[in-house]
Parts: sequence; C-alpha cells; structure tokens
Amino acid sequence: MRTFVYPGSFDPVTNGHLDIINRASKICDKLIVLVSVNKRKTSAFTIEERLELLNLSIPNRANIEITSYNGLLVDFMRKVNAKTIVKGLRAISDFEYEMQMALLNHNLDNDIDTIFMMTSIQNSFLSSSAIRELASYGGKIDDFVPEKIADIIIKKLKK
Ligand code: PNS
Repeated sequence: MRTFVYPGSFDPVTNGHLDIINRASKICDKLIVLVSVNKRKTSAFTIEERLELLNLSIPNRANIEITSYNGLLVDFMRKVNAKTIVKGLRAISDFEYEMQMALLNHNLDNDIDTIFMMTSIQNSFLSSSAIRELASYGGKIDDFVPEKIADIIIKKLKK
C-alpha cells in the first residue's frame, strides 16, 4: 500500500492546496493530509479550526485522511509507515525552503523521500498569507477558497 503524506500549515487551506490534494490522491493508495506546526510562522487558526476547514473543503475522500501531528514530520511518517512526502511548488521562491526541508527530512530518515508537484497555473499566485490579509480587510476570497469556508474565514479574520 502506497501512502503519501501531504504536510502543511493549512492556515487556512486554499484552492492551491486542494488542487495538490486532488492530484496527489490519484497517484497513491492513501493520502494523509497532515496539519503540522511550522515554528517559523505564527498561525491565525487553531489546529482544530484548520482541520475543520479541511474537512469542510474535502467532502469526497475515499482515499484521503485528514489529521494533525504536533511533532517532527519524520516521526509521524514512521508512525503511519509512510515513506513519501508530497509538497506543492508554486515558483522558484518556494524552492530553496522546500529543498532544505526535503534534504533535512531525508537526512533524518534515509527511507523517506519528498516528491514535488507543480501547482496549477491558475493557483500559482495563491497563498494562505495572502488569503489572511485579504480576509482581514473583508476582501472577496470566494475565488481562492471553497465557497463553504469563505464566510468562516472572513468571520474569523475581518477586523
Ligand atoms: O505549509 P508550510 O508552513 O510550508 O508547512 C511546513 C511544515 C508544517 C510541513 C513543516 O514546518 C513541518 O514539517 N513541521 C513539522 C516539524 C518538522 O518536522 N520540521 C522539519 C524539521 S526541523
């Protein structure tokens, strides 16, 4: 059984993440979407809220599991017996950080590899931080996140 893990902050999930989730789920037996803690970032949504937004955004998930882990990614990978991490790449600007993480994780556990998927062009400008900023001004985010969660995000972030 080929299990892939797609880790991220998902603070909040965007259509860019959902595109990767949809495509990655087609090339593995099971995809675990993992809400993890990125200590370099301060988050706007709690882990529970991020899980809830993901659950609302992915209604049809035959082979997709959504969960969270507050520890090292490689420890979670070992726990669920997964060897492949999936990440999305939008632009060259993502590359340096993602390469560092991929090499670090591989160094921590030689059995673990990271594969990258290029984000679809229509999502290449999207980021959770841009959504958060837009939402804080009450801007329209319906085109960038699923309709179901747009209001929840605005309600939480609009100042
Ligand atoms: O969506 P992001 O913020 O780019 O995701 C980064 C994330 C959460 C995947 C990364 O920070 C992570 O793996 N955090 C868990 C702790 C860990 O294993 N850190 C890397 C080794 S120091």
